[in-house]
Amino acid sequence: ATDPVTVTVTGAAGNIGYATLFRVAAGEMLGADRPVRLRLLEIPSSLEAAEGTALELQDGAFPLLESVDVFDDPVRAFDGVQAGLLIGSRPRGPGMERSELLEANGAIFSAQGAAINAGAAEDVRVVVVGNPANTNALIAASHAPDVPLERFTALTRLDHHRAVAQLALATGSPVGSVRRVSIWGNHSASQVPDVDHAEIGGRPALEVLAEHGRGRAWIDEEFIPRVARRGAEIIEVRGGSSVASAAHAAICHMRDWVRGTPEGDWTSMAVPSDGSHGVQEGLISSFPVTCAAGRYDINHEVKLGDDVENRLRASVRELAEEREAVRSRGLLGPRGRSS
Ligand code: NAI
Repeated sequence: ATDPVTVTVTGAAGNIGYATLFRVAAGEMLGADRPVRLRLLEIPSSLEAAEGTALELQDGAFPLLESVDVFDDPVRAFDGVQAGLLIGSRPRGPGMERSELLEANGAIFSAQGAAINAGAAEDVRVVVVGNPANTNALIAASHAPDVPLERFTALTRLDHHRAVAQLALATGSPVGSVRRVSIWGNHSASQVPDVDHAEIGGRPALEVLAEHGRGRAWIDEEFIPRVARRGAEIIEVRGGSSVASAAHAAICHMRDWVRGTPEGDWTSMAVPSDGSHGVQEGLISSFPVTCAAGRYDINHEVKLGDDVENRLRASVRELAEEREAVRSRGLLGPRGRSS
């Protein structure tokens, strides 16, 4: 066996937290040979529920689970963290103003970023799930100037999976035959699902789609809105937001980051931009990335089609506005103040 990995999960008593923890304990995120130490963070009012989840984790008798600890103090919860799943956030309540939402999340992710800065292990990796995920990740990163910026990412893997699944359904293909799909931009309605470089069964997806009578109009009018609005569709049909699919996506995000993307494929992650593809440096935007040897690389080779390019500009504008909104409220930390 290898050394245990310290995994901190925030919002541990919430829906996605509950759907995530047991799979992490079962080794589905870091591998069947990696013991884990779980550290659960909740707010005081949900601490008891998190304690209950910890009892259930004991009852799983997971051979890989070395310990479970529950905290309401971020500094203690993130002590020694190597994999941080930042799921808990403040949802928009009835009648809540956008500014109140920004303030509430600004406070949460500032404190968590500072706690990560204070106590994280050298190899820490962070994925923010709680919405608005990209900007929450930006806030956390700005309060952790001693942690390399590239360790702060946000989840767009669920959007990626939704796009893959829709392509498979539209062409009657197995999902496993769909590769090289990309999600660009913000995890919001402005996100940009891109099939220009996708392959289905080793052939260009555009060609396979055309054989099924699906051309540009289908992509623009059905595929993109379907993927971008899927969260709302799930709420309508299921009567509750996406939970298990989001947990699965978070696990896949961290798993691929640590263990690599499959040969010949890539995935989508929201990561700090290095300025490529015209996305302002420092904004946390979704890109196609390949992962190997414990790191991700933004795919610089793929060329953006005109339509994808235009849509991405709009999504990046939204990200820049979100950054400005949190900056002007003084929510950015020492790393983000000047840039
Ligand atoms: P939930 O409301 O069931 O659970 C959230 C939990 O976070 C609650 O138990 C709450 O007490 C806790 N929490 C709040 N503030 C906290 C803090 N400062 N520290 C620790 N815990 C805190 O919500 P659910 O369904 O689990 O969703 C969580 C988040 O994930 C939401 O923001 C949701 O919008 C987002 N989400 C993101 C997706 C993505 O693809 N990026 C997909 C689906 C959901």
